[in-house]
Amino acid sequence: MDFPLSLVFENFSQLMTVLSVIGSAVSTIVFLGYKFGKHFGNKSDKKEIEEIQKEKHGLSVKLGKEKKLSSLLAAELSDLKIANELKSTKLKKVHNVWDAPRIFDFEKHYNQIKNSKPIITVANFKGGVGKTTIAANLAAYFNSIGKRVLLIDFDYQGTLTETIRNSLKVKEPFLSSNALLSDELSSSDIFNQSEPLHGLFDSSRLFPAFYELNDYETLMLLNWFNGSHDEIRFNLHKYLSSEIFQNSFDVTIIDAPPRPGTAVVNAACASTHILIPTILDHLSVEATLNTTQVFNDFRSKLNPQLKLLGIVPSKVSKVGYSAYEEREIENLKNRIPNIWQGNDTVSIYKSTPIYDKADIAKHAGLNVPYLVSNNLLIRNIFDDLGEKIAEELKLKTSDRPDTRTVMAGE
Ligand SMILES: Nc1ncnc2c1ncn2[C@@H]1O[C@H](COP(=O)(O)OP(=O)(O)O)[C@@H](O)[C@H]1O
Ligand SMILES: [Mg+2]
Repeated sequence: MDFPLSLVFENFSQLMTVLSVIGSAVSTIVFLGYKFGKHFGNKSDKKEIEEIQKEKHGLSVKLGKEKKLSSLLAAELSDLKIANELKSTKLKKVHNVWDAPRIFDFEKHYNQIKNSKPIITVANFKGGVGKTTIAANLAAYFNSIGKRVLLIDFDYQGTLTETIRNSLKVKEPFLSSNALLSDELSSSDIFNQSEPLHGLFDSSRLFPAFYELNDYETLMLLNWFNGSHDEIRFNLHKYLSSEIFQNSFDVTIIDAPPRPGTAVVNAACASTHILIPTILDHLSVEATLNTTQVFNDFRSKLNPQLKLLGIVPSKVSKVGYSAYEEREIENLKNRIPNIWQGNDTVSIYKSTPIYDKADIAKHAGLNVPYLVSNNLLIRNIFDDLGEKIAEELKLKTSDRPDTRTVMAGE
């Protein structure tokens, strides 16, 4: 069968028309698809951008925190470095922490101590040798010859405080001896807040001590070590050398604890004299030699004006020394000059011992035996020692109480 050409052409043009219609429909669909696709694509990009921005924000917050942390860490590290440097200068270069270079005017301190009213620290790094007993009864002796006494209890066990405060009829609010170790108050504020000893000792005052003193001493030492306080060893001196203290008292007695801490180093820097009581047995004499050594170091490094008033035999068993007590006195006489290396000879108060007396022991912590004992021998023991010390310190002694006359007549 024949296929007419015209028919082919006719079909061809129809085919082309159909194809072109299909083509334009496809391109429209593609275009629309593209358009819609782009539109949908925009939406997901925005979301993504938002999420990225959120994440970025989160990261920058994190980064900020980390920067802060690292700068804190750096500060802490540098603090630690400083603390270590301080510690190494305070510990490495010296055999004793208290020997670290002083930050206090040398000449001013030297002259203040030289011209000071007597300030006596009663010390021995052995407990129970009679420090507190001697401090309280010496204060009573000085009061009896008309001297105004400042008593400072620097032993956190507060034995002197107990003894004195139990003897007071009227107790007044007071500031503890902690305040003397800090330099927060003015001299007049601190003076006015010490406890007056009305009815016990005339025109005399007390800075009492309690167990909290132990923590306070440690706190001051830490403050010194971490650099928040440049100097802590001359705080007591600043108060005791001030006009109000110098004008208000004829003599100051500091009762020291049996170990060399913040209170003892302050006492050493503020004192004119050290008095060391000892029992005449081997252990106490060894502790006495060690105590002398420590104060000799304090003297050479911190207070060249410091004098060793003497060593007081305490709790001596009987009139006239026993053989072992004599032996220990010889031991002291031989060794002390090698330890206390000054031109001044050290007195051993051999002729004015404090005897071991039940009339002293029974008042422990309750009363001052010198004031309340009916046994005149007790008064005489402390009068003898007190007179010697008053002579040495050039305190007027003419008005000695007349108990000796009574004793002589016994
Ligand atoms: N001369 C003495 N005679 C009898 N007992 C004493 C004498 N001296 C001190 N005591 C007693 O010995 C104990 C310790 O004395 P104390 O003065 O507190 O020593 P320290 O202050 O050196 O620790 C106290 O119970 C005290 O009463
Ligand atoms: Mg004591």
